[in-house]
This record gives sequence, C-alpha cells and structure tokens, in this order.
Amino acid sequence: MQSRYAIALTGAGISVESGIPDFRSEEGLWSKYDPMEYAYIDSFRINPGKVWNMLVEMDSLFAGARPNEAHLALAELEKSGIIKMVVTQNIDSLHQRAGSSNVVEFHGHFRSLRCDTCLRAYTRKGLAFDKLPPLCSCGGPMRPEIVFFGEGIPRAGYLSAVEAAGRCDLMLVVGTSASVAPASELPRIAKRAGAQVLEINPGKSELSGRITDLHIAEPAGKALRNILKTVKERRSQIEETN
Ligand code: APR
Repeated sequence: MQSRYAIALTGAGISVESGIPDFRSEEGLWSKYDPMEYAYIDSFRINPGKVWNMLVEMDSLFAGARPNEAHLALAELEKSGIIKMVVTQNIDSLHQRAGSSNVVEFHGHFRSLRCDTCLRAYTRKGLAFDKLPPLCSCGGPMRPEIVFFGEGIPRAGYLSAVEAAGRCDLMLVVGTSASVAPASELPRIAKRAGAQVLEINPGKSELSGRITDLHIAEPAGKALRNILKTVKERRSQIEETN
C-alpha cells in the first residue's frame, strides 16, 4: 500500500500488550465493572465514589504500564513522516509516552482533573485517592478529563479527527472493536473519501468484512513491528537505487 497521508485510529487493544486490559474481550474491564453503572456520566453523578473505585484501578494500571512496540512503531512512523496523526480512544497517554506528537485523545485523558460542579481545574500533583471521590474546595466531586458515555467528544479533537479522516488515503485501525460512535464513524468517513482501511486486530470488529480492506489478524505489537520493518527496508532500497 502506497500512502501520502496515513493516520491511525487506536483502541484499547493496542495497550493490551502493555498490561492494560481492554473493555469487551473476555477478561476486559467491562467484565468486572458494568458499564451501565460505571461508564455513564449519570452513573458518575449518582455515585461518584463508586465510579472512582474503577477510576483508581484504571489509574494504577496506567501508572504501571509502559508503551509497547506498537505504540513505539506508530511514533517512529510519525517521525518518518508516514503517520500524520494518531486518533486514540484510549486515556492511558501511552502514545505520547512512546513519542507520538500529533495525538488526538478522542475520549480525553487522565493527566488532569476538574471539579464536576464548579469546573475548577486540578493537576494530578499531590492528589491522593485515599478518600473517594476526591473533592473540590467547593465540595463538588473531582473527575478526570475523560469522556463518559453521555458526554460529547472534545470539540477541537473531534473536528481535527474528522478532517484527517476525510483527507487520509490510508487509515490504520488498531485494536478497536469499533463499537462506539462517533469514533467508529472515522473509518467510514475515510472509506467514503476513498481511503484504504488496514485493520490490525487478532479478532473481528464491527469493521471487519465491511469497511476493512486488509485485516492483519495479529497482535498490534507484532503487526506494527513488521510494518515498520517493511517500511525501513523499502526506504533503504529506494535510497540505494537513487
Ligand atoms: N492487538 C490488537 N488488538 C487487540 C489486542 C492486541 N494485542 N488485544 C485485543 N485486541 C482487540 C480486541 O479483539 C478488540 O476488538 O482490541 C479490541 C478492543 O475492543 P474494546 O475492548 O471494545 O475497546 P475499544 O474498541 O477501545 O472501546 C471503545 O468503548 O468502553 C468504551 O470509552 C471506551 O474508548 C473505549 C470505547
């Protein structure tokens, strides 16, 4: 596949090899926490302390995780000018820690918080999760800058991701079931605009057999390691002939 403007859409599957469970696989997070009770903004507002039990577990998984070779390969493909943007549904910051710089966090991130009542912003510094929920000075519950179900996607990120999806000629879709809109719309936008969709997922997703042009049914680390190796080989062949 030749490409002049490739982007990547990633989901929880790309971080599984970093030790962070995804959501919908057998051992996924939703097998432990019912998303109806933990993933909706209404559930958070009814019982923030309860939802924070899951958030603290996620936070400790992120703290103990490191970027894996899939994240690192995407960062290297960005440095070599092939990948122009990574749109991620993940909130673990592993793409940035791997060195990717143009990252759109479609579902927000966990690097800072805000009060859900007065919107005051808080950094993570000095924040202890001994009492849940952590409270703002106004008495309201703090929440991370993540997007709960029932909330909108951060507008700037949404617009840049949609623009890039309409402009790309290749979209790598890595480690997502593509079961949550509007992120799952991005491969369809790319496809309608004439892009090729390359899916990397050992399992099937909502895109497989419909939107996907090429499905590499392997774990992200192995697939992206091989893609990076092929790109490097191709480039050195071209340099040798020049
Ligand atoms: N490499 C590549 N893909 C993998 C790997 C791996 N090592 N391990 C699992 N997968 C695949 C699974 O087969 C599955 O299709 O990753 C996908 C993960 O799907 P989900 O658990 O549904 O995660 P995701 O698609 O990111 O969920 C989207 O839903 O719960 C919300 O906000 C949450 O951002 C999340 C959104």
